[in-house]
Amino acid sequence: LNVIERTEEARSQLARWCADGKSVGLIPTMGALHAGHLSLAQRSRDECDRTVATIFVNPTQFGPGEDFSRYPRTLDDDLQALGEQGVDLVFVPAQRELYPPGFSTYVEPPDVARELEGQYRPGHFRGVATIVLKLFHILPATAAYFGQKDYQQLAVIRRMTRDLNLPIQIVGCPTVREPDGLAMSSRNRYLSAADRPRALGLWSALQAAAQLFEQGQRDAPAIEQHMIQSLLQHGVDSIDYARVVDAESLMAVSPISGSAVALIAARIGNTRLIDNLILSSQTTTDRGTGDE
Ligand code: PAF
Repeated sequence: LNVIERTEEARSQLARWCADGKSVGLIPTMGALHAGHLSLAQRSRDECDRTVATIFVNPTQFGPGEDFSRYPRTLDDDLQALGEQGVDLVFVPAQRELYPPGFSTYVEPPDVARELEGQYRPGHFRGVATIVLKLFHILPATAAYFGQKDYQQLAVIRRMTRDLNLPIQIVGCPTVREPDGLAMSSRNRYLSAADRPRALGLWSALQAAAQLFEQGQRDAPAIEQHMIQSLLQHGVDSIDYARVVDAESLMAVSPISGSAVALIAARIGNTRLIDNLILSSQTTTDRGTGDE
């Protein structure tokens, strides 16, 4: 496993692979890796000649008072797991490598970034879009792999890639869950033993939404009310949102006609978790499978 800290060195390696005609898969991460991340690496290994992962806790996507300073950092374990997964290169830049003094250019994120996380984490997607664009330039890969657990992030990255004509394929991969349904997340490490059962409230509420949808309910506010009841019954401490929106635009939709997505952000103790489930007449199979 080749671990590189410098931008120019990473760029040169990618250029060599490109000159050799190799396809390259990119897995951008903030470390604290779990089975969801490793499933992205596996998918890239299956589909590309070379796989590159990045580990960088990106300060510009955290708001004031968020968990940037306490975000879990587990570099040794992460490198070991990526090595075992057959990843070829890991880019682990220091903060000043990507944000040197005087850095001041940011990506204005697309419309799909405005609601939901955009409302509760102002500036978050500006930071995500900026770092992802930088990584795409430093590591010009064939394809980049992102988990569907961060559903809105994936939508933002897809839109940015189209809008800015970025020559990279964006691959969304299913959410990986614990056996009881809890979506894998680096932030699950924050959960105390007492928090853990309550964290399952998100998955239960999403399943309740899917059940209503399967029974024919197409009124989005009715499904949202049901999710809120379910979350409260499970004892979550607060709910930022529990919404059912159009699966593509993430705009309000009722009655639901095509595919919709149910999305939740809720707090258990000091831990803010997000999860989602696609509600579609065809693909209710997303349940139980699937990724941070
Ligand atoms: O999903 C994440 O881990 C981060 O938002 C990403 C895409 C690596 C950008 O920092």
